[in-house]
Amino acid sequence: MFIRQKTLLQIAAAGLLLGASALAAQAQETVKIGLIVPMTGGQASTGKQIDNAVKLYMQQHGNSVAGKKIEVILKDDAAVPDNTKRLAQELIVNDKVNIIAGFGVTPAAFAAAPLATQAKVPEIVMAAGTSVITERSPYIVRTSFTLGQSSTIIGDWAVKNGIKKVATLTSDYAPGHDALKFFKDHFTAGGGQIVEEVKVPLANPDFAPFLQRMKDAKPDAMFVFVPAGQGGNFMKQYAERGLDKSGIKVIGPGDVMDDDLLNGMGDSALGAVTAHIYSAAHPSQANKDFVAAYKKAYGQRPGFMAVGGYDGIHLVYEALKKTGGKADGDSLIAAMKGMAWESPRGPISIDPETRDIVQNVYIRKVEKKDGELYNIEFETFKDVKDPGKTKK
Ligand code: PHB
Repeated sequence: MFIRQKTLLQIAAAGLLLGASALAAQAQETVKIGLIVPMTGGQASTGKQIDNAVKLYMQQHGNSVAGKKIEVILKDDAAVPDNTKRLAQELIVNDKVNIIAGFGVTPAAFAAAPLATQAKVPEIVMAAGTSVITERSPYIVRTSFTLGQSSTIIGDWAVKNGIKKVATLTSDYAPGHDALKFFKDHFTAGGGQIVEEVKVPLANPDFAPFLQRMKDAKPDAMFVFVPAGQGGNFMKQYAERGLDKSGIKVIGPGDVMDDDLLNGMGDSALGAVTAHIYSAAHPSQANKDFVAAYKKAYGQRPGFMAVGGYDGIHLVYEALKKTGGKADGDSLIAAMKGMAWESPRGPISIDPETRDIVQNVYIRKVEKKDGELYNIEFETFKDVKDPGKTKK
């Protein structure tokens, strides 16, 4: 009797141990990604696009890679950097995530950077576009874009296309300051003149009073940077103030003509020329497949923020393949450096020196195709690096 009881106890203990080690093995087998994006507030369209695209990618490619299960923990920071910081801290300390990703606005990407460095956790920036972001931590890799990439190119294009006087309207925070600086450097170097310069607040901007000043300055075109999600409201007020009728065309980086909102802007958007990294009308097969799958899943077309998310999760999958499933920060960052692939936007790579994205920039014009508004690409600048890097 005594012996039987002892055996039973031993079996039970062994069972417990087995259970515990199975749990530990399971924990090791999971790679956790903390996805911090704005799902509410003025920047919510960015968070929704990224969340949609990450989910779509995982449906298409499965939720395991290199023997690891991929788990995404979605958090809404409403684009408030204090929230971003707190959420990143909780994800790293409590959830023990291997990677943090997302970051709908520059201040959010900045807020997480010291935590990425301290914890040696990769920070994949899928949305924010200020040049200096990647210099804030050696653990940051970007799959979005920089405002310098597009604004330099539209500055040169404006000069070459007979635009002599430009009024500028830019969102008054870091990426807006980058957009303005890079545009101005290139446009004025080519002989262009800035006749009016206004900066609008990031939160709930009312463009109307600024638009009147634009109209009075009688420029050939107006250069506009507003972040993703604000273009629809901007173009509505642009039309209401009659700027379309006075022949003041919109030029700029493509954020204002985000595919997410473009089709709802109406004909006042026709003819707007922007330089950008993604158009839903990009004619590659990879993009046609992406747009079709996204539309099927969500009933609307993807914008450039969706593509930043799609490429960001792809980068994680491919890095894990390369490390054979090793998920520590140093191994992942080393694997990501220099990685190159075909995105729905075209060919892209991660600059091994700066960890920033290298990509084509396209000049596009808003046209009607099959009854819908699209940014139709007509000129390509290949493999554009961020022009704003201060170190190599
Ligand atoms: C940014 O905050 O860095 C940002 C956000 C939205 C954009 C571009 C840049 O469309």
